[in-house]
Amino acid sequence: MRDYSGHWLAKHIDRRTFLLAAGAAIASARVSSADESGETSLRQRAEKKGLVFGTQVNAGPLFSLKPYQDAVLRDAAMIVPENEMKWRPTQPTARQANYFNAERIAKFAEDNTLLLRGHTAVWHQNPPAWTKDIISGDDGEKLVLKHARELIEHFRGRVMEWDVVNEAIAPEDGMPDNLRNWAPYNKGGIDFIADCFYAARQADPKAKLYYNDYSVYYQSQGLRRDAILVFLEKLKSKGAPIDGFGIQSHLIANAEFDEAIYRRFLSEVADLGLKIRATELDVSDVRLEPDIQIRDTIVAAHTKQYLDVLFDEPAVVGLVTWGMTDRFSWLHEGWPRRDRLRQRCLPLDDNFARKPMWYAIADALDHAPSR
Ligand code: XIL
Repeated sequence: MRDYSGHWLAKHIDRRTFLLAAGAAIASARVSSADESGETSLRQRAEKKGLVFGTQVNAGPLFSLKPYQDAVLRDAAMIVPENEMKWRPTQPTARQANYFNAERIAKFAEDNTLLLRGHTAVWHQNPPAWTKDIISGDDGEKLVLKHARELIEHFRGRVMEWDVVNEAIAPEDGMPDNLRNWAPYNKGGIDFIADCFYAARQADPKAKLYYNDYSVYYQSQGLRRDAILVFLEKLKSKGAPIDGFGIQSHLIANAEFDEAIYRRFLSEVADLGLKIRATELDVSDVRLEPDIQIRDTIVAAHTKQYLDVLFDEPAVVGLVTWGMTDRFSWLHEGWPRRDRLRQRCLPLDDNFARKPMWYAIADALDHAPSR
């Protein structure tokens, strides 16, 4: 192995991260041809391994900015709407839901033979304002169930898989079964969540049904990992029709990632008979210094390290990034850097050029065991 210790970057990051990054850079030089740039798309690289690469899309830019649409079509075999299927935007008043933007995205998927993920039917963060009193009252669970049923029924036969329930586990809330402190969970417990899955199965019998959640990747997140495993086990033992666990994968460059712990967690989820998909990958660079080259390198190295472990687990079926380009990322508003620089958290830069993160994903896919 070449000695990189004198390299300028080696002074800024630890040796292992640096070697991973160097490996990704070298691998990125060795590619087979596909599009005009000579790069094989992420989509093709994933397909070769029996995996699916996908990305989140937003209807605004998707239908108004051609280079963004082209970027999506170049790399993605699957798309998921960022907000367009969520409850608040689709039903701002108690009147009938309006799926205009979700429909446009569904049609775009059909026109371009892309797989479509549904996101998300039940999520404590997104009920419209008019539901507030109802949800905390006696009919709360009924209303949430009705919403889930109607949404999933509306897209019956068109959505490959649904995030039926999103982010229900919150050990920090101190509630029974580590459920989040939200009225329908407080009243209905895990049985209510099982009912959401039954309703989803009835509403679209062919769709795969996922539970989706965050923060299970890092060493410090053991409490959440344990809570989620116990929760998934209970859901299964109640006979809930759940097919998979969606791991959001909002990563943080420079957070402590323990490969062995994560491998074990993934295999424990797999042992429950569940498929696994990384559903919202992005890598926040809030902890990194401003230098763009350093940020890009560390973000890429972290991506590669994470995906290598993920893809080694046979139950993993694919990867979805939470956006394709830094131009459109929720992190700019949701989690801004202290120095106000824009985060560089996604595979393409603001101008749709490939970043080291894109090559890191390509490299991880190329080295993934075949399914
Ligand atoms: C985010 C969207 O990206 C933002 O535009 C919106 O304001 C809030 O939601 N976990 C999820 C996603 O499951 O739905 C969230 O998406 C990001 C965190």
